Amino acid sequence: MKKLMELMAEELASAFEKAGYDPSYGKVTVSNRPDLCEYQCNGAMAGAKAYKKAPFMIADDVVVYLKDSKIFSMAEVVKPGFINLRVREEFLADYLKEMEADPKYSVRTAETPKTIIIDYGGPNVAKPLHVGHLRSAIIGESIKRIGRYVGHKVIGDVHLGDWGLQMGLIITELKHRKPELVYFDDSYQGEYPQEAPFTISELEEIYPCASGKSKVDEEYRNEALEATHQLQQGKPGYMALWNHIMQVSVTDLKRNYSNLNVSFDLWKKESDAQPYIPDMVQMMKDQGFAYEDQGALVVDVKEDTDTKEIPPCMLLKSDGASLYTTTDLATIVERVKLFDPDEILYVVDKRQELHFIQVFRCARKTGLVKPETELSFLGFGTMNGKDGKPFKTRDGGVMRLENLIADIDEEMFHKIVENRSVKDQDAQETAKVVGLSAIKYGDLSNQATKDYVFDIDRFTSFEGNTGPYILYTIVRIKSILNRYKEEGGNLESGELLPAVNTSQKNLMLELTKFGSTIENAFEEKAPHKICAYIYEVSNAFNSFYHETKILSEENQGQKESFLKLLSLTKNILETSIDLLGFSAPDRM
Ligand code: ARG
Repeated sequence: MKKLMELMAEELASAFEKAGYDPSYGKVTVSNRPDLCEYQCNGAMAGAKAYKKAPFMIADDVVVYLKDSKIFSMAEVVKPGFINLRVREEFLADYLKEMEADPKYSVRTAETPKTIIIDYGGPNVAKPLHVGHLRSAIIGESIKRIGRYVGHKVIGDVHLGDWGLQMGLIITELKHRKPELVYFDDSYQGEYPQEAPFTISELEEIYPCASGKSKVDEEYRNEALEATHQLQQGKPGYMALWNHIMQVSVTDLKRNYSNLNVSFDLWKKESDAQPYIPDMVQMMKDQGFAYEDQGALVVDVKEDTDTKEIPPCMLLKSDGASLYTTTDLATIVERVKLFDPDEILYVVDKRQELHFIQVFRCARKTGLVKPETELSFLGFGTMNGKDGKPFKTRDGGVMRLENLIADIDEEMFHKIVENRSVKDQDAQETAKVVGLSAIKYGDLSNQATKDYVFDIDRFTSFEGNTGPYILYTIVRIKSILNRYKEEGGNLESGELLPAVNTSQKNLMLELTKFGSTIENAFEEKAPHKICAYIYEVSNAFNSFYHETKILSEENQGQKESFLKLLSLTKNILETSIDLLGFSAPDRM
């Protein structure tokens, strides 16, 4: 179905044409003076020059053809030449009926679905998830959901960091602590144990300890580098340990992500790309892209139009070791081979932008991807504490994701118990659901590229532009619908009637914007647009609710119409929050 804006623009275009002007002037925008009109057309001003006429004269000519419009109840010329517009209540009600019947509420399904791989999450195995990984997971998950909703084939890949020095560090620390383990016995020939020689909590303690030591102890660091190297060469005891580390970590990561309502189609890891490296490097050498520079193998990626220096892309270090860049390039090779994607989108901290510029340029230049394949980088900003510095624990340490979630849930629990008479048991569960909305909405409502302040007080508030406020609105609607059903009411009967007051009309107009909001959020990879939208819808609904008697409305047809509108509002809000990656409880 067409968008309301499109229908209006068609009507305007035809009026311009009938009046003898170019129809392309017939554009419509949402009014910036809601006190005067709902929509407006500025085409007469735009055309004034071309037609050498005063804008209001053009507008006067045009509105003649809008007099009997089935869409507009008002089309009025205002100096210097705006056309102010209002929509007919009947037309609006009919339009919403059509939306109600459309399973996607007017969102258009992509005509040529694309295969899009989203690389998000990006946790590093054996290191605890910290808040920095939160943004990637939240934003990536939302874009994946939006992409699927608009009809694309979207594949989410967690792209685990499993191949770096952290593995060598853990192995080294284990060796120091438990040298008797068979994994360190070079003469051992038997099978390695099934059971890991550590738990997840030990593992999480081992890494920071090892990393700390390596910073002050050169010998220790060299040992870890050597262990990393031997692991990458496939030393059996180390491979067995690596498998244990992976197993224990991945189980824990899956639990963490599932608490966040985040899921991945692929649990690929950096090491999966290693087998592609030798051929890829050889090809780059053979075709003359890669050359040696001070012992290292590099590919130039600078371009004439660069305003800042883009250093060459490094493939191999002088000792032959590969780098993060090499792994990312080889991962592209693998992705192309396995999925032939139209687009690969990386949702990663914006401080890695240069890395991705180099990787993308190198992949294009060397033909790893087809020219039409899109490689895109969505770099997100830092999550800061109230002091404007990267978010930390109270004592200044790195904030673990689990603790952050626990803090939010606790705060939510207090607010829920304070506000309402919900049983404790229920309140715990509800606090988790609402807490997740607080975190995700708090994050997603900011433009992804910007830094933002993680403010627990504000994010958990039931008032203002917050997740809990949106959920509160949905819960309010659900409870009215439930009471109606308890009274014996049937949501199937009746139909949406024209608005009876301004606040109802505003709500109806807001609902019509769902389709373009979602399509636009996908185009621009901008979940914050959905947040801004549902905040408007919630405000519009709450004004309507305060001004209108709904369940006590005596006219049955009118009451049914209100309930239809409530139900559509709820569906649109619930669909939207699902696209953002959270859900609403039944009560709160
Ligand atoms: N593991 C990396 C980190 O924590 C992020 C990985 C991002 N994805 C990628 N393909 N490089 O910084």
